Amino acid sequence: MKKKRNMWVLNGTFVIISVAIVAFLLNAPEETTSALPKDDNHIKLFDIKGKKEAEKFCGECHDIGKEAPLPEDHPPKYRCLFCHKRK
Ligand code: HEC
Ligand code: HEC
Repeated sequence: MKKKRNMWVLNGTFVIISVAIVAFLLNAPEETTSALPKDDNHIKLFDIKGKKEAEKFCGECHDIGKEAPLPEDHPPKYRCLFCHKRK
């Protein structure tokens, strides 16, 4: 009979841990990084399939010296679209 009780303890622990993980994920803070704007400058980038492909164009306007350079305190800018999502 001891074996059966161990099973219940294991199953119960599994359920409790699962619930805890789901609760943790639901509690995650909202995304705050600005999404890729849907304006004239950016709208064509929504039609490009791959993120990597689309990111090739960001620098045309956002590199230093271009019309909209990134702010100085901008986080590491590798892979723009991982943070600035296309929604
Ligand atoms: C044709 C020029 C151009 C290209 C290409 C471009 N941008 Fe922009 N972007 C701008 C300009 C100008 C602004 C500032 C004014 C505005 O919000 O449209 C801007 C603003 C932004 C903002 C700020 C939005 C906000 O809410 O303040 C983000 C984020 C951004 N661009 C990301 C990107 C990413 C990522 C790419 C590449 C996938 C990209 N841009 C390509 C011109 C461009
Ligand atoms: C690691 C995440 C991350 C990556 C990668 C990243 N950014 Fe950002 N970016 C941010 C955060 C955080 C801000 C601060 C303000 C905000 O929430 O938009 C920001 C701000 C900006 C702004 C100014 C927005 C404004 O409101 O003035 C622009 C433009 C921008 N990023 C473009 C880009 C481009 C272009 C790339 C790729 C070359 C890029 N970002 C890569 C996280 C990221």
